Amino acid sequence: MDKQEITNKKNDSDSIREEGIKAGIFGSIKDRGEVDQVVRDRLMGGPRGPEKIIFKDGSAVIFKCDVRRYWKAQNPDTPIREAIVYQIDKIVGLGAVPKTMVIDDMIDNVRYDGSVQEWIKGAKDGYQIERFTYEEKKIFEQLKIFDFVIGNSDRHLGNVLFTGDDKLHAIDNGACLIIEKDEDILSFSDSIIHFFSRHVVHDMPHIVEFIEKFYYSKDMILNLIDKYIHDNTELAKLMVESRINYLHNMLKRDRPFSRKYREWRKGLQEEIQDILKKRK
Ligand SMILES: Nc1ncnc2c1ncn2[C@@H]1O[C@H](COP(=O)(O)OP(=O)(O)O)[C@@H](O)[C@H]1O
Ligand SMILES: [Mg+2]
Repeated sequence: MDKQEITNKKNDSDSIREEGIKAGIFGSIKDRGEVDQVVRDRLMGGPRGPEKIIFKDGSAVIFKCDVRRYWKAQNPDTPIREAIVYQIDKIVGLGAVPKTMVIDDMIDNVRYDGSVQEWIKGAKDGYQIERFTYEEKKIFEQLKIFDFVIGNSDRHLGNVLFTGDDKLHAIDNGACLIIEKDEDILSFSDSIIHFFSRHVVHDMPHIVEFIEKFYYSKDMILNLIDKYIHDNTELAKLMVESRINYLHNMLKRDRPFSRKYREWRKGLQEEIQDILKKRK
């Protein structure tokens, strides 16, 4: 195969993937058959809290509205963020975020414009389980890296579901990719430092491979953000790129990761300056 052919091949598969992603981000629940009932729980909060839509075949999704339509708030587009996080999960092979997409459907004359996510049946959240299994723990550790990279500020144990089959489900992923206009791009949950300071990362293949996966998928993730996130886009990209670069550089250095929050911030700041310099 000559070089040109290889390039063509690459573009072909890229466009197929791109189509796949586009179709995956926007969808409809119309093709799932009839709705059996919609369960609204006021306690779930918001002007229009999450609703559980149950279909006649017994399957269900959780619907979360686009709050900008119900509050006169300056919120960014959270349904898009929920759906993008599912796509990023697929790209890096985490396999923890349930299938999520953005919809704009009508059910009994009510508009459903927001995100839907597959309902995980019979799940317990992280506060309800005794301890993690070995497999769950490994995914939970990768999730720490994942949340750090996307800047998820809402990963408490209530947003992690367990089904007793060594799987872990990361739900409620809207608060990420610069959710606040004036957010501090260098801030993150220190649980990742706690984790890194207690383990030798280089001895944990599932972490090393995961960081590498992020590094090699970086362009694809940045393109995704560029295309579909239409608020705080540049900041979101800068955050994600600097974090991936930081983790990857730390890995290459073959030394333990720093235990100091201050040093992580400094390192991230340097990565940001590097990226901005290269862009000029
Ligand atoms: N995919 C899901 N499968 C099963 N239960 C879910 C799912 N998503 C949300 N839930 C349930 O609904 C609750 C509220 O959803 P969540 O996305 O966490 O919204 P909120 O922003 O209100 O915290 C969750 O705490 C969980 O109990
Ligand atoms: Mg929640």
